[in-house]
Amino acid sequence: MRERLLSLKDEALQELEQVQSAAELNELRIKYLGKKGPLTEIMRGMGGLSAEERPVIGQVANEVRGAIEAAVQARQDAFDRAETERRLQQEKIDVTLPGRVSKQGGIHPLYRIVQKMEDIFLGMGYKVAEGPEMEQDYYNFEALNLPKNHPARDMQDSFYVTEDILMRTHTSPVQVRTMEAMKGEVPVKIICPGRVYRRDNDDATHSHVFTQVEGLVVGPNIRFSDLKGTLLQFAKEMFGPQTQIRMRPSFFPFTEPSAEVDVTCASCGGDGCRICKHTGWIEILGSGMVHPRVLQMAGYDPNEVSGFAFGIGVERIAMKKYGIDDIRHFYVNDLRFLRQFAKY
Ligand code: DAH
Repeated sequence: MRERLLSLKDEALQELEQVQSAAELNELRIKYLGKKGPLTEIMRGMGGLSAEERPVIGQVANEVRGAIEAAVQARQDAFDRAETERRLQQEKIDVTLPGRVSKQGGIHPLYRIVQKMEDIFLGMGYKVAEGPEMEQDYYNFEALNLPKNHPARDMQDSFYVTEDILMRTHTSPVQVRTMEAMKGEVPVKIICPGRVYRRDNDDATHSHVFTQVEGLVVGPNIRFSDLKGTLLQFAKEMFGPQTQIRMRPSFFPFTEPSAEVDVTCASCGGDGCRICKHTGWIEILGSGMVHPRVLQMAGYDPNEVSGFAFGIGVERIAMKKYGIDDIRHFYVNDLRFLRQFAKY
């Protein structure tokens, strides 16, 4: 039995020399050390040995097993090292190679202006509100004191989806939605940036889709002077501290009184140039004191509270600020145009 064990060891070690791969090594391990292997079989047969022989043979068997195990393990370690080495070679990277430059996106020039406006108004304690671009006739017109067949609806030619639903023609419906949601609470102090749609033939100064920033403040004793001060502050932060504003009487059904607001031309500082058509002023927004009927329809008592509102045209501001002469550039999304703003 001793001889059998020793020759088994020699056989296993010899065979081990021939092993080429980790898979073959595993086969060999099973063959010699596995439950059905010869070593196990011999150890099982030890029951038939005499009491003197048993420990002697047992020791030999353990030694043989230990030797085969150690040799297999050593071979396994060698395979593992070789595999690690192979992977290190394969995954080697040349850190001196020039990197691949990934293209970086930039913020759209219109949205840059919107962000700046948000910053300015957030600084004055406003919150940013949102509303749907596809809007109900009620919010877009009726609740803003523009009943059906009101002639002022012609000021804003609309894309109707159904008889009662249209693409909003301005961001003013968000005034109504906000007041309704506030359920009579004061103060209301929001701006709402967003896209608006009108049936216009697109040309250098008209686009059927454009961007506005609406503003609304409602509270006790809100006055026209508050509106003026707010807009002056906005203009100075937007265009520079030397900027002045001018308010011209105007008409909007949802404000009374109403005013259009111009800022001094940033290009010529008010002296008159091509950009401001030699007037020194550039119109940027419509505004006014919220009409009592608008407050009332949205659940506020015009005897208790008052408010002001404004709607700023974003494209105009972006065009002046960046010297863009065609509004369509903002919506065509030609990368050659957009790329120029990526680094601003
Ligand atoms: N909604 C108006 C427009 O698109 C702009 C406007 C005027 C908004 C006066 C206002 C406002 O909130 O008070 O022409």
